[in-house]
Amino acid sequence: MNETLKTIAERYSCRDFDGVMPPDGDLRAIAQAAIQAPSGTNRQHWQIIVVKNRQLLADMEAEGLKMLAAMEDPSFYQRIMSRGGKLFYNAPCMVLIAVKEAQPKGAELIDLGIVAQNVALAATSLGIANVHCGLVSLAFAGEKAPEFKKRLQFPEGYECGMGVLLGYAKTTKAPHEPNPEKITWIE
Ligand SMILES: Cc1cc2nc3c(=O)[nH]c(=O)nc-3n(C[C@H](O)[C@H](O)[C@H](O)COP(=O)(O)O)c2cc1C
Repeated sequence: MNETLKTIAERYSCRDFDGVMPPDGDLRAIAQAAIQAPSGTNRQHWQIIVVKNRQLLADMEAEGLKMLAAMEDPSFYQRIMSRGGKLFYNAPCMVLIAVKEAQPKGAELIDLGIVAQNVALAATSLGIANVHCGLVSLAFAGEKAPEFKKRLQFPEGYECGMGVLLGYAKTTKAPHEPNPEKITWIE
């Protein structure tokens, strides 16, 4: 197995970070991998925001939990509370990917996912634990959205896409078991 395939096989979702910040050199390499992602017609309708500010992360997490608690269906909130009551798992850093507001958004969402996976794989290759964090968008679902967009320096006309949390694992887990039945061969 080559190094790239090994990195893909080793990536897993870390949900327990020790809080130690990765070095800036590694974060720069990860941000570089993000902007090397392909996008439809090379439109690059994204902005990569490396968030190292712990207070800002704490504020976003608190707002996200508040929005989750206010949801009509309590099952999601209960699930999060039953596994520790955290959205960001003590991660010291998040790569937040903001996307250009566009209707319809289909293709931009594909671009967004590719950036996020570049971030996750680059981080894994550097020994930095990570987890995709779609739930970060909860922080932008209420009245604090303009405040967070300002503090995060979103470009005009951009909204929250998703985040990837980065740091070092306090506890690790195995990646999900790949299911070979998810592959169809036509010969
Ligand atoms: C688009 C997307 C959003 C996700 N959002 C979250 C999230 O908000 N919180 C979380 O703990 N995991 C999140 N995940 C991680 C998935 O739950 C995880 O990838 C899946 O359970 C498979 O486990 P593995 O990544 O360890 O192989 C997200 C994954 C993707 C692809």
